[in-house]
Amino acid sequence: MRVLVLGGGAREHALAWRLARDEEVDEVLIAPGNGGTPAVATTIADLPITDPAAVARHAARERYDLVVIGPEAPLAAGVADALAAASVPVFGPSQGAARLESSKAFAKEMLLASGVPTARSAAFGDAEAAIAHARSLERPPVVKADWLAAGKGVVVPDTHEEAADAIRALLDGAPRGARLLLEERLDGREVSVFALVSGSQVAPLAAACDYKRLGDRDSGPNTGGMGGYAPVPWFGSAAVERAAESIFEPIAWRMARDGTPYRGVLYAGLMLTEAGPQVLEFNARFGDPEAQVLLPLLDGSLTEAMRAVAAGDGTGMREAVGMRAGAAAVGVVVAAPGYPDAPLAGGRLGGAEPSGPDDGGPLLCFHAGTRQGGDGYAASGGRVVTFVGIGGTLAEARQIAYRGTAGCTLEGAQRREDIAARELSGEALQVSPAGR
Ligand code: AMP
Ligand code: GLY
Repeated sequence: MRVLVLGGGAREHALAWRLARDEEVDEVLIAPGNGGTPAVATTIADLPITDPAAVARHAARERYDLVVIGPEAPLAAGVADALAAASVPVFGPSQGAARLESSKAFAKEMLLASGVPTARSAAFGDAEAAIAHARSLERPPVVKADWLAAGKGVVVPDTHEEAADAIRALLDGAPRGARLLLEERLDGREVSVFALVSGSQVAPLAAACDYKRLGDRDSGPNTGGMGGYAPVPWFGSAAVERAAESIFEPIAWRMARDGTPYRGVLYAGLMLTEAGPQVLEFNARFGDPEAQVLLPLLDGSLTEAMRAVAAGDGTGMREAVGMRAGAAAVGVVVAAPGYPDAPLAGGRLGGAEPSGPDDGGPLLCFHAGTRQGGDGYAASGGRVVTFVGIGGTLAEARQIAYRGTAGCTLEGAQRREDIAARELSGEALQVSPAGR
């Protein structure tokens, strides 16, 4: 089989790597890929991956057995719809279904309609009306852009002044007619849960935690994600199963009933409040860096599972994959100097040999913002590589991942030293076979 992956980050390197390890796969191709992906895939450099017609034309001509969409932009542009219309098996939701991520107001409607717990919210197109509403609340609300704001669309203010400033700033830079959401602020621990969804059927994968701030102990600016780990000792397989029943299944059922069946991976950001888990957001794709820690823990055939999703075969999907028991993964991102505001490109990268299909760990290296230059690799973007350690415990996995970063040379590189460190005390160290 020949499989095309769309995207060029470490998430897509991990996807291509995992697909290439499936027996039935003869060739993985990737567009646009990055400096490291030639280790696992054939690069297609000139495909405009957010242009639905161009992608569908190319894929139909090449007769791919599967196209896997990594990032959100092609999903929001309707690339999955065009591929499906050209009879190309595609893993990734339609434009309508991807609104679970691209429109927070739509996600909220679906959550309310399916009775899934979520924070109360109200939508506004006008700054003054929004500010008046915010001031009427006792606690300043979370302010969320209802458009794809490239990770800069959520502000969690501590004062009413900050809330008003955020409302004005967000609406100032908003596309015409755009609205923002004011949402009740929730307290608790955050966790991300992932499941494959095919119409009304759900195959839960696992929970993962990521680290969004640049610096140790959650200091510094927000980033795309500086590291992560899976599984989560305090949100094990039993909790994931419960989330599948109480969150993913009602949403999947509702989407199917409304004529926008979801096909792909669904990522729910949860807040574990005193009243139970509440949904903060959905994403219509794997997270980055969550994919880098989840995919190495996946048993079975990812290709078969994704082809089953594409064909609307929920039973096939459920039977094709599961999570490996008694194993853990920790991923640590190495970022360029200046990331996230103004990443400096061009630095020479050493000690970061990209993982190929024969590389089963325990130390994996997934490339993101890299290019091949002369006799080695150079940084070409903000997040440069993710090192992933696989072990029997989070502690072991963590040690292996940091062995990777210690051997990596890039002048001025930034990385967090505390990924998964909070899990290293007492019993949290052990990943029980059941993952509880
Ligand atoms: P989102 O893009 O919706 O995941 O929001 C980004 C981050 O903002 C989340 O990871 C949370 O840390 C925070 N956040 C979002 N919504 C809420 C909420 N209702 N209460 C508290 N924090 C929130
Ligand atoms: N790591 C967060 C995301 O991919 O959205």
